[in-house]
Amino acid sequence: IVAAPTVYAADAYPTKPLTVIVPFAAGGPTDTVARLVAQAMTADLKQQVTVENVGGAGGTLGAGRVARAAPDGYTLLLHHIGQATAPSLYRKLPYKADEDFASIGLITDVPMTIVARKDFPAKDVTELLAYLKANKDKVTYANAGVGSASHLCGMLFMSALDTQLTTVPYKGTGPAMNDLLGGQVDIMCDQTTNTTSQIKSGAIKAYAVTTKTPVPSLPNLPTLDKSGLPGFEVAVWHAMYAPKGTPKPIIDRLAKSLQLALTDANVKQRFADLGTEPVAAERATPDALDKFVRADIAKWSPVIKKAGVYAD
Ligand code: MLT
Repeated sequence: IVAAPTVYAADAYPTKPLTVIVPFAAGGPTDTVARLVAQAMTADLKQQVTVENVGGAGGTLGAGRVARAAPDGYTLLLHHIGQATAPSLYRKLPYKADEDFASIGLITDVPMTIVARKDFPAKDVTELLAYLKANKDKVTYANAGVGSASHLCGMLFMSALDTQLTTVPYKGTGPAMNDLLGGQVDIMCDQTTNTTSQIKSGAIKAYAVTTKTPVPSLPNLPTLDKSGLPGFEVAVWHAMYAPKGTPKPIIDRLAKSLQLALTDANVKQRFADLGTEPVAAERATPDALDKFVRADIAKWSPVIKKAGVYAD
C-alpha cells in the first residue's frame, strides 16, 4: 500500500501554536525583530507564535533545523542576510538556501554601527581607523560566528582597512554585547536594533554607521562611506521562511499575517526607535523574497570568494 501523501489542512490553519526559530541567541537584534513580529502575528492568527532561539555556526544550525522541519506551517524561520552569505561561506552547508525553504516575506533592513567598549582609546572614527591599523594585534572584534551579519560587516571592515583583528565568536550579538559592556572585548559591528539603547545611555562608544545615509535615530554618527572608507555599505535584511513544500494556502495566510504585522503601529514605532523601518508592502511578498534571496546569494558570492573567507 502506498501511503497517501500527508495533506496539511490549510482552510482551518492555524489550529495550534506556531514556533518561529531565530538562529541566534536571545536578546540580540534578530531576536528583537522576531519577538515584535511574533507578537503582532499572534494577535492576527489567534494562536501563540513563540520564538525559539537556536544559535550556533553563524545562524546555519537554526536555519538547518527549519529546512528539515515538517512543511505544515507550524515551524518557521526568521533569519537575515546570513541566508544569502552562508552558501558562499560554508562548503558543507546542511541545506540549500535557495531550495529548501518556502519564502513568506521580507521584514526590515537594519543599519549597523561600529561600536566599542566605553573606555576604548579612540575618540572618533578617524582616530579609530588609525588606531586599528597601528594596534591590530591588540584589538579584539566580537561577532556571532561565520555567517552572521557582524561577521560579514567585520570581513568587509577589516578588508577595507587591510587589517586582520582577533575575532571572538559568540552565539549571537546579544551575548557579545554583554562582554562589550563588561569591557571583555574591544569592538563590534552590530545592528542598531541591538546597539541604539546602549549608545544613547553612554554604556558603549559608537563611531559610525555602515549605511550610506545617516540613521535618523542616531544623528550624531557619521557614515563610514564619508569617514575614510568610501563605498562601505552594509545593512542587514531580515525575512521569514517556512520549510519547502508548505502548502501555498498556508504560505499565503502567513504572508498576509506578516504583512499585517509590518503595518502594526507598535511594530513600526519600535522599529523606528531602534533605527529601522518595515520594508515597503510591495517587497513583503513570497515572490519578492524568493527573487531577492537568489539575487543576494549571487551578489555576495564573488565578494566572499575574493575575501577568501570560509567557515569550513
Ligand atoms: C543576532 O541576532 O545575534 C545577530 O543577528 C547576530 C549577527 O548576525 O551578527
